[in-house]
Amino acid sequence: MYRSRPKGELDRDTLNFLSSMNIDNEIISYDIMGTQAHLVMLYEKGLLEVKPLKKILNELEILLQNPGKINRLGFEDIHEAIETHLVKKLGIEIGGSIQTGRSRNDQVILDVRMKARDELNNIYSKIISLIDSILQKAEQNLGSIMLLYTHLQQAQIGNLSHYLLSYSDQLFRDLDRLYLTYTRINKSPLGSGPVGGSTIPIDRERTAMLLGFDGLVTNSLDATSSRDTIVELMSSLSILMITLSRIAEDLIIWSTQEFDYVELADKCASSSSAMPQKKNPDPLELLRSRTTIVVGNLVTSLALLKALPSGYSRDLQDLKLVFLNSLSIVSSCLTITDIVIGSLIIHKDRMKDAVINSYANSIDIAEQLVMQKGLVFRTAHKIVGSLVEMALSKNNASLSSLSVNEIEAVIKRTSVPIKAKDLLEILEQVTPEKVILLRSSIGSSNPDEQKKVIKSSKIRVQEYSDDIRKRKMLLNNALHNLRQVVISYTNKSS
Ligand code: ARG
Repeated sequence: MYRSRPKGELDRDTLNFLSSMNIDNEIISYDIMGTQAHLVMLYEKGLLEVKPLKKILNELEILLQNPGKINRLGFEDIHEAIETHLVKKLGIEIGGSIQTGRSRNDQVILDVRMKARDELNNIYSKIISLIDSILQKAEQNLGSIMLLYTHLQQAQIGNLSHYLLSYSDQLFRDLDRLYLTYTRINKSPLGSGPVGGSTIPIDRERTAMLLGFDGLVTNSLDATSSRDTIVELMSSLSILMITLSRIAEDLIIWSTQEFDYVELADKCASSSSAMPQKKNPDPLELLRSRTTIVVGNLVTSLALLKALPSGYSRDLQDLKLVFLNSLSIVSSCLTITDIVIGSLIIHKDRMKDAVINSYANSIDIAEQLVMQKGLVFRTAHKIVGSLVEMALSKNNASLSSLSVNEIEAVIKRTSVPIKAKDLLEILEQVTPEKVILLRSSIGSSNPDEQKKVIKSSKIRVQEYSDDIRKRKMLLNNALHNLRQVVISYTNKSS
């Protein structure tokens, strides 16, 4: 179709090598709508007669409803396949006019931006739904005390609600990042031509409006050859996937027999072909590996762009490939995370036992020695550390079960100016079960803090949902109007 200078057909292996047909399926409908908007504009600017306009719009409408009618064999990409289809159906005089004032270079990035904004809106909705599921679980687990870890060693006492909300807060930031990126994605490159614009008096603003864009990527060189906005989006998607992957990793560890804090619902767990007792967290493992792919796709894109000369180069086709791949992975991973968390079984008693059998109240004991007995923190730290050492040597006894004699021995050894009676009083007061209620700093594990966060998060979820609904509605309205314009022009009397 495009071979005006090179003679003959493309070699078959070369054609297959060049072709983006296998992924262009994902952008067909956007490509058709883009062409319809472009034709409407050409007609309105007096650059296309009504007769060919009607014929092409009509044929494109048929393809939009039934993309299977497009012959995909033997083409480099969907743009060529559609134009060839139109030329075959309507003749070169009519079908050959769809590329007036534009090129595949603005066309492909137009399609990618249209696809990206739809996918972004779906991804937002999925993140909001996931946050909602997390908030529900957090509300049900305000009283589920558990250990918090640093270095994967028992650290402080917390509660599951606090843990879960740490992830809803991160997901809100993921949402925020994507929310902002949308404003940069939703700009039209259409009409930029191959690189330097067109001598044909097209109206780029009109096509942008018809397609629901909020303005233009103005500079035609920028519009056709930059992909920073796509990479920005891939970067935000990668950060989002890291959030999901870290949740996955925690749940994988916690569902081991050794931890046994949580259990995947049967509907989410895999089994083993050989070991009948097995209940494996495979969806979570694939969440981890899919994160690797999404991060890899980001790195691929950065590396691909790093030394690309300005202006379109075919390398950008492979960026489209990895970008579309990331969009689809992220979308499915959000669904799976939501299902897994929504149906997660929590072993509250087991988590509580682990708390009771730990020394994770040590820091709180030290703090209370500061608050109630006037010790400086470093000294309190020292004596509590020695108490733990003593308890460990007594067959891992609890701190509050240490005898007065044992405590006196520790005081003597550390020469800390405190009476055994005072120390014992604190040990009895700051038991693992009570400790969480003593926490008073903003954002701590105290359930009262979580209640506040749940309340404000529910409002934020509502605000984001309303915003996304508005965004989706704006797009739908614009594309609905385009459809109306297309129908009215198709029925126009010549
Ligand atoms: N299939 C190409 C892509 O996906 C479309 C643009 C091709 N442009 C060109 N001048 N070869 O990027």
